[in-house]
Amino acid sequence: MKDVKKVGVIGAGTMGNGIAHVFAQYGYNVKLVDKSEGQLTTAMKTIERNLQRQAKKGIVSEEDIPNILSRIETSTDLGFLSDVDFIVEAVFEEETVKREVLSKVSGIVKDDVVITTNTSSISITRLASYTKHPELFAGMHFFNPVPVMKLVEVVRGYSSADETVSLVMELAKKLEKVPVEVKDYPGFVSNRVLMPMINEAIWALYEGVASKEAIDTVMKLGMNHPMGPLTLADFIGLDVCLNILLVLYNDLRDPKYRPCPLLVKMVEAGKLGRKTGEGFYKYES
Ligand code: NAI
Repeated sequence: MKDVKKVGVIGAGTMGNGIAHVFAQYGYNVKLVDKSEGQLTTAMKTIERNLQRQAKKGIVSEEDIPNILSRIETSTDLGFLSDVDFIVEAVFEEETVKREVLSKVSGIVKDDVVITTNTSSISITRLASYTKHPELFAGMHFFNPVPVMKLVEVVRGYSSADETVSLVMELAKKLEKVPVEVKDYPGFVSNRVLMPMINEAIWALYEGVASKEAIDTVMKLGMNHPMGPLTLADFIGLDVCLNILLVLYNDLRDPKYRPCPLLVKMVEAGKLGRKTGEGFYKYES
């Protein structure tokens, strides 16, 4: 198995800062790249704040925080990644952006470096085709918030080599995550199962089967879910939910994934959930 010491993380947003955080926490040197200098500054502040939160819970020691932070270097230049042993890409969920970043970075890294993507919905097989070595490409799908959530979906693309998938599984275990291998089909397993449930909850609301509070309470207390599906949709972002449902609907060509018209209307109205202060529920900023 390849010895990974230095990890490149591309994109320092919600997911990228969490991914950089966990690799540094478990002793890896991290090179974090974002096109925005401001985003890198914010990411480092977020990582420090989250480490302090972990220290209060006894997950990391207070004295270790400066060491963990010192293992993360930042840059706005992809060329900075020329000496890393492994890459996780976590830029915007837009195929054109990912295509450009992945084709550039695969020309920058050493020839045997495994490149992974944190995409939640774009085909791993297609993203692999934008790199020089599709056999060295796989999905490494972390969950938000990364330092807390145990699951990593490890997605095997059509061309991913067994050694590539094994390396990603091993690295996830080194981060004390639980990796689960899945094949590259739309939505993988997580969103293939979750999004139709959220969509059905929205259909139930749309058809007047019950109030939003009633729907959420049924799923919380009846199914033991930590939050109801409409609360969860607000947390994820209604635009994100709609985009993923459209990927399932278009790529699997099956009407059972048709997004509820109420979801479409709310996204058109800019009611995207927590991040805009209103979705199914209202939030104070
Ligand atoms: P985000 O919008 O918070 O962050 C994306 C970052 O990428 C931004 O900081 C942006 O400046 C940077 N970026 C954009 N283009 C770039 C480029 N050309 N070069 C370098 N940096 C660039 O997005 P988020 O939520 O962190 O999502 C990232 C990826 O993770 C997406 O593929 C998303 O589908 C996936 N994901 C998101 C989850 C979530 O709950 N937010 C959960 C699991 C996966």
